[in-house]
Amino acid sequence: MTKRLTVLATGGTIAGIAGSAIAKDYRAGEIGIEDYLERAGGLGLDAELSGAQIANIDSADMGPEVWNALHPAIVVALDDRSCDGVIVTHGTDTLEETAFLLDLTLPTTKPVVVVGAMRPADAVGYDGLRNFANAVRVASDNAAAGRGVLVVMGDRVLAARDVRKVRTRGTDAFRGFPRESVGLVTPATLEWFGAPWKPESPAQFAWTEDLPDVELLTIYAGLKPASLVNHITEKTRGVVVAGVGEGNMPEGVRSALAVMDMPVVRASRTDEGLVDREPDDTANGFIAARALNPQKARILLQLLLASGVTDHAALQNAFDER
Ligand code: SIN
Repeated sequence: MTKRLTVLATGGTIAGIAGSAIAKDYRAGEIGIEDYLERAGGLGLDAELSGAQIANIDSADMGPEVWNALHPAIVVALDDRSCDGVIVTHGTDTLEETAFLLDLTLPTTKPVVVVGAMRPADAVGYDGLRNFANAVRVASDNAAAGRGVLVVMGDRVLAARDVRKVRTRGTDAFRGFPRESVGLVTPATLEWFGAPWKPESPAQFAWTEDLPDVELLTIYAGLKPASLVNHITEKTRGVVVAGVGEGNMPEGVRSALAVMDMPVVRASRTDEGLVDREPDDTANGFIAARALNPQKARILLQLLLASGVTDHAALQNAFDER
């Protein structure tokens, strides 16, 4: 049966225009949703598509303002019996943060798929329509529900909890960690690797329009503890450290953070790898980010703090569960 899908557009390169097939620069977020659906209409996809424009931005500018419009629009679509699934078009630069935020705050009853592109619509080898056709294939599949928010880039289907942008250029820019693709898709075929892992689950966190301030502190050789004052203000409720190696930091920074009266999560600025608890984390009051990279650890800490979780063991547990 042909599925009815709601497409919510936020901009990005998938809606980008360069003005020339060989131009170096381009503008993200130029094509409107009506125009986009008309272009997609020419592909002969087996789905009824309707759409709404939530924003039309470069995803470097993504944040609470757009999330506060996007999240309720998805909830309305999911509650609508005539909607079988939702596709969100998004810039690739911060796609992983939006996908993870939605994953933690939406029920898993119907497919929700986030998709982007690495090349603007008038570039040679535009990947946007192919990725979009793949996203339609995934969102039309009953077995896409119960897997949380999914990301389609190229022929990979990735879970929001795992997805990472790992390359600045090229169409093969996304990977999953610690789990790789959960499926492979073409406009004509879809193969899942394993069964849905959260069938019919409610949202893990209530939606809030008021995410608390959590600072992201990148560690580098020579970082001085005194520079912490540039990062932490009266409004800061928590800190995520993008540490070196396995979430490490200079001794002076470690001792300065240890006496702060707020949760501190140790993540890693390294592309891949787990950050496990260290013996002195308990004394320092630090939490290990485990498999989450710094930007995703920040989203999870914001949601935990917004829901009133401050107990150290409960915070660590939430990171262990990802
Ligand atoms: C953006 O993230 O909006 C620009 C880059 C892209 O979509 O690939």
